[in-house]
Amino acid sequence: MATKRAYVQVNGLKKHYGDGDARLTVLDGIDTSINRGEICVMLGPSGSGKSTFLNLIGGLEDADGGSIMVDGCDLTVLKPADLGEYRRRELGFVFQFYNLVPDLTIKENIEVTAHLSKNPLNVDDLLRSLGLYEHRNKFPRQVSGGQQQRCAIGRALVKNPGLLLCDEPTGALDYKTSKEILQLMEDVNRTYGCTIIIVTHNTAIARMANRVLRLRDGRIVEDGLNESPVSAAELDW
Ligand SMILES: Nc1ncnc2c1ncn2[C@@H]1O[C@H](COP(=O)(O)OP(=O)(O)OP(=O)(O)O)[C@@H](O)[C@H]1O
Ligand SMILES: [Mg+2]
Repeated sequence: MATKRAYVQVNGLKKHYGDGDARLTVLDGIDTSINRGEICVMLGPSGSGKSTFLNLIGGLEDADGGSIMVDGCDLTVLKPADLGEYRRRELGFVFQFYNLVPDLTIKENIEVTAHLSKNPLNVDDLLRSLGLYEHRNKFPRQVSGGQQQRCAIGRALVKNPGLLLCDEPTGALDYKTSKEILQLMEDVNRTYGCTIIIVTHNTAIARMANRVLRLRDGRIVEDGLNESPVSAAELDW
């Protein structure tokens, strides 16, 4: 059982794009904290800043103000090399559109990120639990969208990351495949205790979360604990 303590702590986080008349404030002072081992679901309308938030936590973009502590380390003051090390060591990132390498097989796509980690999971075991073992020697274009997304999740998971960031992981998937992917994330959370942040438009997914964040116009308008999350299998929409 994972210990509950603040693992991600965000204070006064700000981000804007552009300058002068074109200046757009995207994150307008975000404060929140997420405990180790939690599943956190972030909701909010299109353009409210969800992906930007995830990119900042993932060290893919720089903040303009505030702090982002992950496991006691402030990302906003890290040097680029240390930020790279943080991404390799701590982080799994699942993007909406899979981001697989087309010229590598399903297995090779997962192996390349396994090499980044000091304590990777066993690739064949992971392929089996992802339901991809029989497809391991195919290229991404030869498998379905759901299988590609499972592979993308496998790429993130094989590193055995402390923090798994998922931007619309089911956005391009049908109902049945979406539920399988969510069940997989739940399994991984239970088995390895990784902290998961899922950004989604699907409010039903919030029912499986320990914590629900809702963004609107770059501000958090809801930050609540869900006392009785349901299992992914029970979700319906
Ligand atoms: N690189 C960029 N340059 C300029 N503006 C950007 C950039 N990235 C995002 N934006 C703007 O920032 C705002 C927030 O974008 P973001 O992608 O975080 O929204 P989102 O909540 O993820 O939306 P969606 O649900 O549609 O994915 C949007 O108005 C977007 O147009
Ligand atoms: Mg987005």
